[in-house]
This record gives sequence, structure tokens and C-alpha cells, in this order.
Amino acid sequence: MPPRQHRCRICGAATQLIIDMGDMPPANWLMQSPSQHMVEFPLIMESCKYCRSFQLRDCLDSQTLYRHYNYVTPSSRLLLSHYQRLTSFLEDRGYIARDKKGLEIGSNAGEFLAHLAPRVGSIVGVDPAENVAAMAAARGLPTIAAFFDKSFAEKYRDENGSVDFIAARHCMAHNCDPYAILDGVLAVLSEGGVFIMENAYAIATLKNNEFDQIYHEHMFYYTLTAIQKMFGRVGLALTDVLYSDVHGGSVTCVARRQNEVAAYPLDEALTLDLRNEAEMLRAGLAQTFARSVPKIKKELHDVVCTLRKNGMRIYGYGATAKGATLLNYTKLTSKEIPYCVDSTLIKQGRFMPGCGVEIVSEEWAFHNPPDAFLLTAWNYRDELMAKVASAGLRPTFILPFPSVEVIPGA
Ligand code: TYD
Repeated sequence: MPPRQHRCRICGAATQLIIDMGDMPPANWLMQSPSQHMVEFPLIMESCKYCRSFQLRDCLDSQTLYRHYNYVTPSSRLLLSHYQRLTSFLEDRGYIARDKKGLEIGSNAGEFLAHLAPRVGSIVGVDPAENVAAMAAARGLPTIAAFFDKSFAEKYRDENGSVDFIAARHCMAHNCDPYAILDGVLAVLSEGGVFIMENAYAIATLKNNEFDQIYHEHMFYYTLTAIQKMFGRVGLALTDVLYSDVHGGSVTCVARRQNEVAAYPLDEALTLDLRNEAEMLRAGLAQTFARSVPKIKKELHDVVCTLRKNGMRIYGYGATAKGATLLNYTKLTSKEIPYCVDSTLIKQGRFMPGCGVEIVSEEWAFHNPPDAFLLTAWNYRDELMAKVASAGLRPTFILPFPSVEVIPGA
């Protein structure tokens, strides 16, 4: 563990504590057995008043964190419609086109690459997890297994030329030094090129009390103000945004080099969004979040224990990183929740870190159904509920956010 730092990793100002979630194992380190000993690390969210960023106080180094990589983008109707909306936005505004070359950072198993490929001149994925990069390559989607940084970007540019757009979806929070990625972006982005960055939006996380978004891989919780300041420090300018519901509320940001911005009209709504964001934070949004979290923790624990006392069997649905935080923080274990259902093959048969909940397939769970599902992948709520219904089941559903909700079964 590197020495603890209490300065903002975006702007260098002093940071303040928002919430201490206690020590936890990294959320994606699935266990081979329910009793495997797991090392735990502090999980503390801080904020910076100057750039209005939220971030983990203590970051694990990438080599440690990504040693056991299990995240594979699920096939999901919700994600597919997001990709369609996002690509229409990018096409309509001329950020991508059939004559443009691009790179996707953190391309995982290629879900978004596959969507982009027919709409652009060429697209190459870059992802450090060799196992998932190989899945994309096997689908015929050019993918390089590497960490994206300046030295990678310079080598890529020297061999292939610069690119017209770079997409980085849900990966800028996963590096304790976002400037290492941005330096690479500047090295390989062509004149007039755009950087497209999508992340969970911190304002949505805070407003909806989504404390399970806090885990070791999520080193940053981005506000627009923080993104604007971060871009500004490397000579980029935030010029456009698109909000969406994915991952509990996300924002896609578009940036250009500052010296090229004058040539493009700025999205007027952006100034207003930045002002509203600052107002909400000044009014104490983060402090309200920090006060709500222990209440949800107690309520969720009580609801699960009451249903259990009434003889109900409860499974989690979605062996998510979020689910690991949710279960460990609320002190729910395999005693209360014996199984967690997940469609990801490489997760099945393993156990969620800390709480020891066994991960099973959807097929198995639908043949051995519980009385209730705790939606640990609540971000796919409608999709999962429809899937369960089409399997002929009518269980109770428990939703943790924005406040604990029990939807009775039939
Ligand atoms: P995600 O919400 O992206 O999780 P994380 O918190 O780890 O970032 O992952 C959703 C999980 O839910 C993923 O492991 C796959 C699982 N899932 C199913 O099991 N069935 C489904 O129909 C869908 C959409 C997801």
C-alpha cells in the first residue's frame, strides 16, 4: 500500500473525509472457497472543495488490483440501447464518422467496439486484462492487451499514425493517476480530434445514495467541475456532455484541445449544468449522502433478516463489484444470502469476496428459485425483473437505492 495521501489527485488541494466504509477486500477479487482468507484495505471516500472531485483516499496499485480480473461487460438490452443513443449522439455531432480512425481505452471484451466498428473508418481496443482482450480479439475486434499511457500512445502513433477520436468509457476512475491516461490521449490524438470520456456521474451517485459504487477500483467519482479542471490542466476543454441512466447515472464528456475550441460552438446548457452542480454541492449533497448511508445499511440489514425470519430464501442477483461493497458493508453474508446469481461464466462457482456468497448461473437459480432476490445489479433492475418473470417466477424483489424498497412477489 503506498503512503496515505490527503491531497487531491486532480488539483493538489487538501481533501476532506466524506465517508469511511471500513476495511474491505477488493470487490472483484472473487474467492475460490467460501473461507479463503482475503486481505482487506481501507475504503475511504474524500472530496476536494477546490475542484469538487470525489476520490478514494487510499489507492491500490494497478498491478495488485487487476491481478484477478473478472469483469466482462454483460450482454444487456439496456447497454445496447445506451450504445445506440451514444453513437447517434457522436455521429450527429460529427465526433465519429465512417472516415475517422479511433481507439477505445478499456475496451473489455469488445461490446462497444463491436457497436462502433461498422460506423467508423477503423477502431482498435486497448485493455490491460489479457483474458478479456483475448475475448474481443476472438470476435474479430482488433484489441491490444496493454495499459494505455504516454509510452503506449507514442509507440502506437509512430506505428499507425494519430487517431481522430479516443473513447474511454468507465475506465478513467480506475487509475489513481488520470493524467497518465490524458498524457497518452494528447500524444496520439490528431489535430481536431476529440476525446470521449464516460463515467458514473458523482452527482447521481450521491443523490441516489449509491454507496455501493465505492470500491477500490473506483478511485474517482467525477463531477463535471472536476472533469473541467482536470482537462484544463492538460490543455483540453470540456465542450459537450450527454447524460444517461447506465450504471446508476452516467455522464459522457467530450473534450477538444483548448486552442481548437474557438472554432466550435459551445453547448450552452453546459454552463448551466456546471452552475447547478456547484449549487447542489454547496447545499451539502455529499454530507446528506454520508448521513443517509448508515441508515440504508441498517434498514437493508433489518429487511433481509426479517424476511429470513419469515422463512424466505433470498439470493443476490448480479455478482457485481457493487454487490461486494453492499453485502460487506451491510454485514450480510452467505448465512443470510446463500447464493448470488450471475450470467458471467468466469464468476460462476466462485465466491464473493469477504461475505463468501457463492455465485451461481441464472439457469441454476431459475431451477432452484428463492422467495426473494436482492438486486445487487440494481442498475439492470427492469431487465433482471423481466428475465425472472419470463422464467415463470414471481418472487419478491429487494432494491437498496435510493432507499430500501421491497416489491412483494405473487
Ligand atoms: P455491473 O453492474 O456492470 O457491475 P459492477 O458493479 O461490477 O461494475 O455488472 C452487472 C452484473 O450483472 C454482471 O456481473 C453480469 C450480471 N448480469 C446478469 O447476471 N444477468 C443479466 O441479465 C445482466 C444484464 C447482468
